[in-house]
Amino acid sequence: MTVVLHTRAELRAWLDRTRGPRGVVLTMGALHDGHVALMRAARAEVGDAGTVLVTVFVNPTQFGPGEDFTRYPRTLDDDVARCTAAGVDAVFAPDVHEVYPEDEEVPTYDPGPLADDLEGAIRPGHFVGVLTVVARLLRLTEADVTCFGEKDYQQLALVRRLPELEPALAQCRFVGVPIVRDADGLAGSSRNRYLTAEERVQALVIPESVRLVRELCADGIPAAQAERVGRGFLSTSPGVTVDYVVVRSETLGPAPVAGPARVLVAARVGTTRLLDNGPIEIRGVRP
Ligand code: PAJ
Repeated sequence: MTVVLHTRAELRAWLDRTRGPRGVVLTMGALHDGHVALMRAARAEVGDAGTVLVTVFVNPTQFGPGEDFTRYPRTLDDDVARCTAAGVDAVFAPDVHEVYPEDEEVPTYDPGPLADDLEGAIRPGHFVGVLTVVARLLRLTEADVTCFGEKDYQQLALVRRLPELEPALAQCRFVGVPIVRDADGLAGSSRNRYLTAEERVQALVIPESVRLVRELCADGIPAAQAERVGRGFLSTSPGVTVDYVVVRSETLGPAPVAGPARVLVAARVGTTRLLDNGPIEIRGVRP
């Protein structure tokens, strides 16, 4: 059975009575198969002698004004059932005041210029909020290893810097897990449940644009041109508003002329913002 913990005191008592390496998966709930892949990866990291803990916390500090904080889906009973099915030992589902007590100063972290790029350019302050809560929860849960999805590729790139920014996390390992997709190709996301049936079909051009850019780059089309074609394809698709289609290096620097790279896409379908990305191989311009 999965133990459900709500307070820091309950968490402390659970930490004190468990042994072995601890794998932690941080989530905002509304759990789906993508989250489950992270739980399985965490189990593979710690083995049967270790423990896997999942946090469910909709973090207010990473939402901007007018974003979906209040309407974000909250489904704790279903989430606990999924965790139990995945063999998770404990769920930590705290209230806001447990994570951010009024009488405690919460350290914040400067994630550097990457935090103001792409998602950060569209959602100012988002990654400061993410890094703050990630550091906070990993410290509270005393994580030895934590698994993050490549679905949020920029988030993964930024949280990997935390061991340098926060000495208390120097020993914590960060593991990236590939994107889990639904049968129709759409990347799993808690926000997919906002989509109407029509929007869901319209959204399928988002993973198609990732594939398109991948194929163009593999065919020797330069990254900048592949980006333009991908953006053109998405922006002429019905019901879709493009935020960006970019090709970057694997560490989100400028795209290389040739070699492994990443394509990242963000677009809105109706009022729902969706992200996707994928690995690509830039073949380089043909002679
Ligand atoms: P959330 O969107 O719930 O995602 C939690 C974790 O699940 C993240 O590491 C995310 O990348 C991963 N994930 C989501 N969908 C996935 C998919 N289809 N395939 C693989 N992994 C997937 O990301 C957050 O919450 C928050 O920012 C958080 C890190 C919890 C801090 O509040």
